[in-house]
Amino acid sequence: MIEDYQLEELEVSLVLQTLQKCTGVDFSDYAKSSMLRRLTDVKDSHGFANIADFIVPILHQPGFAHQLHQALSITATEAFRFPYAFIQIKEAVIPALKTYPFVKIWHAGCSTGEEVYSLAILLKEEGLLERVQIYATDYNETVLEKAKQGCFDSRDIEKYENNYQQSGGRLKFSDYYHIEGEAAFFDKELSENVLFSCHNLVTDGCFGEMHFILCRNVFIYFNRNLQDRVLGLFYESLVSRGFLCLGDKESLAFSELKEAFEEVNIKARLFRKQPVEVSS
Ligand SMILES: C[S@@+](CC[C@H](N)C(=O)[O-])C[C@H]1O[C@@H](n2cnc3c(N)ncnc32)[C@H](O)[C@@H]1O
Repeated sequence: MIEDYQLEELEVSLVLQTLQKCTGVDFSDYAKSSMLRRLTDVKDSHGFANIADFIVPILHQPGFAHQLHQALSITATEAFRFPYAFIQIKEAVIPALKTYPFVKIWHAGCSTGEEVYSLAILLKEEGLLERVQIYATDYNETVLEKAKQGCFDSRDIEKYENNYQQSGGRLKFSDYYHIEGEAAFFDKELSENVLFSCHNLVTDGCFGEMHFILCRNVFIYFNRNLQDRVLGLFYESLVSRGFLCLGDKESLAFSELKEAFEEVNIKARLFRKQPVEVSS
């Protein structure tokens, strides 16, 4: 006799396999608890009795698979999120980046772009923006489109101003956007050196010779196996002594690649790739 929890696991796995067949998006190595929570929420909002009830509409209802993929993506973000990390980036990463004539930065899982524009503001204030190329990627085309436009909800302005001040911003957050109706738009200058593109961390390859990679609040949705694979991708993408910043609830502590990175500031989840040994 199959137990209730086993039945639920089986249903989740069948739904995710069907979704992968129809959209190509592979959620099989995402954290099970997070997938179950999301699928249960969507099931309740659709008035379905069981998680397995997703299978028929995924297969036969046009647009449903895409809609479910969107619903399973958690895209919450904010400008200068966890301001302490930006203070540490300014203190520990920027001085090293200033030693390069040209700097390459990868924001993996950038969502609607607030994090990218925040770093661009910091780089501008540090006089680095003009010699930086930023690659901002996500596997969700809908959020990427918003990120390209550089717009955010004007109701978030007060929170973003506070975050900016707490992150040690030199001016005012309002110096970097203008308002049109309900929306605010970041200054175009901030995204001149940003390339927004679709990239799936599960299936796509590395970006070469990066000096700094930010992947914040993405690992938290992956299981250990996928975290290790993606960390390997970041290791391959970084130059020797390149920096990596994770989200404040994420860690390298249990990773196979833990020794390949040195801790720069553990509270800010800031790490640095160990020098690559050249064999003689
Ligand atoms: C919670 S948001 C974090 C956004 C931002 N980095 C931050 O910390 O505010 C997670 C983002 O990761 C993206 N994501 C999840 N799985 C991904 C994958 N396999 N490849 C690329 N992006 C992914 C989601 O679409 C979402 O935009």
